[in-house]
Amino acid sequence: MGNETHDQQYSKKLPSYNQQSHSQTQKHKLNSFMLIIFTNLVTIYIFTGPFSFMYKYSSMSTSDSNSILQELNSTKAQLAASHTILSELHQRLNSTNLLVQALLIDLTREQEKQPNHAEENSSIVNLGNDYSTISDELSVALGPHKLPFGYSPKIGSGEIHMPIGEACLRLREELKQYMTYDIGGECPGDDVLAQGLMLKGCEPLPRRRCRTKSPINFVEPTPLPDSLWAIPPDTSIIWESYSCKSYRCLVDRNNEPGSYDCKGCFDLEKEEKIKWIFDDSGLDFGIDQVLATKATGTIRIGLDIGGGTGTFAARMKERNVTIITSTLNLDGPFNNVVASRGLIPIYITVSQRLPFFVNTLDIVHSMDVIGNWMPDTMLEFLLYDIYRVLRPGGLFWLDHFFCFGSQLNQTYVPMFDQVGFNKLRWHVEVKLDPGVRKNVWYISALMEKPLF
Ligand SMILES: *[C@@H]1O[C@H](CO)[C@@H](O)[C@H](O)[C@H]1NC(C)=O
Ligand SMILES: *[C@@H]1O[C@H](CO)[C@@H](O)[C@H](O)[C@H]1NC(C)=O
Ligand SMILES: *[C@@H]1O[C@H](CO)[C@@H](O)[C@H](O)[C@H]1NC(C)=O
Ligand SMILES: *[C@@H]1O[C@H](CO)[C@@H](O)[C@H](O)[C@H]1NC(C)=O
Ligand SMILES: *[C@@H]1O[C@H](CO)[C@@H](O)[C@H](O)[C@H]1NC(C)=O
Repeated sequence: MGNETHDQQYSKKLPSYNQQSHSQTQKHKLNSFMLIIFTNLVTIYIFTGPFSFMYKYSSMSTSDSNSILQELNSTKAQLAASHTILSELHQRLNSTNLLVQALLIDLTREQEKQPNHAEENSSIVNLGNDYSTISDELSVALGPHKLPFGYSPKIGSGEIHMPIGEACLRLREELKQYMTYDIGGECPGDDVLAQGLMLKGCEPLPRRRCRTKSPINFVEPTPLPDSLWAIPPDTSIIWESYSCKSYRCLVDRNNEPGSYDCKGCFDLEKEEKIKWIFDDSGLDFGIDQVLATKATGTIRIGLDIGGGTGTFAARMKERNVTIITSTLNLDGPFNNVVASRGLIPIYITVSQRLPFFVNTLDIVHSMDVIGNWMPDTMLEFLLYDIYRVLRPGGLFWLDHFFCFGSQLNQTYVPMFDQVGFNKLRWHVEVKLDPGVRKNVWYISALMEKPLF
């Protein structure tokens, strides 16, 4: 995935690069052309001008040295005069050269200004682009927004730009659709479009000036701690984006055929209830056993990447550990359920740079999310980002990482080693899955960011 986009970007970069080098070649050609003219001029001058005496006098006798000397004198004068002419010529040539250069620069600029259809569809985002060609509202949203009190030394600028993902401008049609709404009115129900943009790299999305719909007949949430295991009321959700229209449907689809993201996660009574409670000394680590690897109470805050409906965070909250759960709403209101349970959902994809400062989190957990579906390079960036946000001595609980047996020792073990974690626990197991994943190798590991 990452390599592909990289290649695409690279190949799409080529046209503009070629154009540039083309005009440079033209410039070079003109320069050498001028040089040839100049060299020819000098050669002609040498053979017809004052230097021709050398050929005349070389065969003469040296007796009339005086007249020769005189002539030499006059030649010298002529030579001095011609030298002036020569430098004048040089100067003119120089200015012509400059003129040609200026002309070429103008020409290249004109070419760049002309609408170029190949470039319009190019995936390369020209950050100097006029955003208004996509949508007026997007142009307004992105800024620049001048600061009311002028330059701010804290910000280091007098204006602010709204951040959006680099890929946003490559997805022009979808972005245009996303930014089409009544300012001050109700936002379109376009969660699926927005999430699609994010998944394709348009993250963060631009802000909008419209009001999102609220669910009708919303009821106040269940109080803690009961909320941790309570299925929220159907009235807490706007269902239009999902194939299910009720929680009952989401719970029931676990028993039906078809593959859905985190299929069993909405049934808080069954599989969710027993996750991380027991430690089988195999792939399944227990939360209490993991916490016991550190001094009591020192694991306090953390992140669960791709945490579904937030059960990991719920179990950690019961142990007074605050976990932020990153999750998407892939055909299900995952973020809403996490929030309804009284936990903290964060709506970012697995590609997004983690929104935490360096050396801050005590623990990062991820179960059955990270695996060989990710391009190697993307995974490497993710692992280093996890390392970045963990504080020294912080834990990275890699829960059920999956790949093929051949990739295990060849790709992933060296990659984890390279990032620099200490391994506290490490368990590898092959599962002969009758389902979608056949002969899948799993790694469950507890890694630690070194203290020193
Ligand atoms: C050559 O010219 C210089 C002045 O430029 C003069 O002083 C000198 O006498 C001249 N020599 C001859 C041989 O005419
Ligand atoms: C011609 O231009 C070059 C640099 O562009 C400069 O070094 C050189 O002195 C110029 N020659 C004349 C005769 O103006
Ligand atoms: C560029 O995209 C437009 C539609 O967005 C299409 O009509 C046009 O043919 C495309 N041009 C090229 C050169 O691909
Ligand atoms: C969590 O914190 C509360 C209040 O500080 C305390 O009463 C409770 O015993 C703690 N629970 C655990 C499992 O540490
Ligand atoms: C990976 O390497 C370890 C030892 O380095 C070995 O025990 C294990 O069998 C290897 N696993 C696979 C799947 O090749």
